[in-house]
Amino acid sequence: MHAAQKPERLVLGLLSGTSVDAAEAALCRIRGAGDSVKLTLVGHHSVPISRELRRSVREAARPEELCGLQIALAECFAQAGLGLLAKLNIPDDSLDLVGSHGQTVAHLPPPAPFPSSLQLGEANVLSQRLGAPVVFDFRAADLAVGGQGAPLVPYFDWAILRGAGETRAFQNLGGIGNVSVVGDRLEDVLAFDTGPGNMLLDALAERVTEGALPCDRDGQLSQRGSADPVVLESLLETPYLKRPPPKSTGRELFGPTLLERVWAALSSRPYDALATAVAFTVEATARAYESYIYPRVRPAAMYVSGGGSRHPGLMAGLRRRLAPLAVHPLDVLGFPEAAKEAACFALLANECIMGVPQNVPSATGARAAVVLGKIVP
Ligand SMILES: Nc1ncnc2c1ncn2[C@@H]1O[C@H](COP(=O)(O)OP(=O)(O)O)[C@@H](O)[C@H]1O
Ligand SMILES: [Mg+2]
Repeated sequence: MHAAQKPERLVLGLLSGTSVDAAEAALCRIRGAGDSVKLTLVGHHSVPISRELRRSVREAARPEELCGLQIALAECFAQAGLGLLAKLNIPDDSLDLVGSHGQTVAHLPPPAPFPSSLQLGEANVLSQRLGAPVVFDFRAADLAVGGQGAPLVPYFDWAILRGAGETRAFQNLGGIGNVSVVGDRLEDVLAFDTGPGNMLLDALAERVTEGALPCDRDGQLSQRGSADPVVLESLLETPYLKRPPPKSTGRELFGPTLLERVWAALSSRPYDALATAVAFTVEATARAYESYIYPRVRPAAMYVSGGGSRHPGLMAGLRRRLAPLAVHPLDVLGFPEAAKEAACFALLANECIMGVPQNVPSATGARAAVVLGKIVP
C-alpha cells in the first residue's frame, strides 16, 4: 500500500547539523497530517562522523570533492538508519518513508544575489539502502518563494511540542543557535537563527587541544578561564546579530573567520578564549530575546535542545542572563533533545507526501506557504 494511504506510517528522519559531528537518525510513528498530526518517537541513534569526513565537508572546494561527498555522506546516513533499526530489532524492510535533510555544505539565503542552500547525501543511495521512498532537499522550495530556506524546525515545534494556551521558546544550540517561539497558531510562530551556538567553541577546543578534543566537552576547558570583555564586545558587533528577523546563518559567518579573530587576540590565554566563546553564545542569545522576542511576546519558558544543552557553562549562563525566564532542557517535556532535529525531518517528509505545506512563512520570510521536499519514489 502506498505510504500516504496508510492510517499510520513508520518514518525515519535523518540529519547531520552544521557541527558535522554525527549522522542522527530518529524513527517515528506518524498518524495523520497537518493540524491533527500525531508523532511518537520509537527510538533514535547517532553515528559519529569521522574526523577525515568532517574535514572534507568543511574544506571541500573542488566540484570533484563535492561529488564524492554526495555519496560518502549518504552511506553515513544509511548506516545511522540501519543501525537504528538493528538496535530496535525492527526488520530492514519495515520503513514506509524516509525524510533526509542531508549535510549542509553551503547556505546562502537572501540577501545573497542567488539565494541558495546546498545539502549533500544522495537520496537514491538512501532509498536503495533503506528500501523506502525518500523525501529530501527541504530548503529549495522556500528559497524559491523568497524565504531564507531556514529555519525548518519551527513547524515541528508547533505541530508536536506546542503547549495549549501557553507560549514556549524552543532554543536549539547546535553549531549555530536557533529559536522558535510557539503559541497556539502556526501563523504567529516567530523563529530565526539567534547566531552563535557551539561552532566557535568547537573550533577553539580543537585548536587548544591540538585535535585531541572536538568540543569543549562538559565545559572542561572554558571553566578554567574567564571571558575577555573587550574581545566579547567586538564579537557582539557582528552585524548579523543586529539585523531583525527573518534571518538565518551558518558556518559562513560564525565559523573560521571568528576563530582566527579570537585566536589572534587570545592565543596566549587559551582558556580565556574558550570562556569568551561561551559568553558570546550566551550574550548573543540573550540579546536576541531582548531585541526581537520580548517586544512581541513573553514566553512562559525556554526549552533547550542540541549539543549545547549538554554544556554546563552555556546552560548556567543562559539561566543567569535570562532570569526570571525558566530555562529547561527539552527533555522535561518528555521528548529527548538529541532526537528532535532528526524527528523533525521524519515529520516534514510525512507532510510532504500528504501535500501539507511545512515552511513557516512568518519564520522564513517566504511569500507563500509551500510544500517542502523532493521525492525519490
Ligand atoms: N557533553 C557536551 N559538552 C559540551 N558540548 C557538547 C557536549 N555534547 C555535545 N556538545 C556540543 O554539541 C555539538 C553538536 O550539537 P548538535 O546539536 O548535534 O549540533 P549540530 O546540529 O550543529 O550538529 C558538538 O559539536 C559540541 O560542540
Ligand atoms: Mg550534530
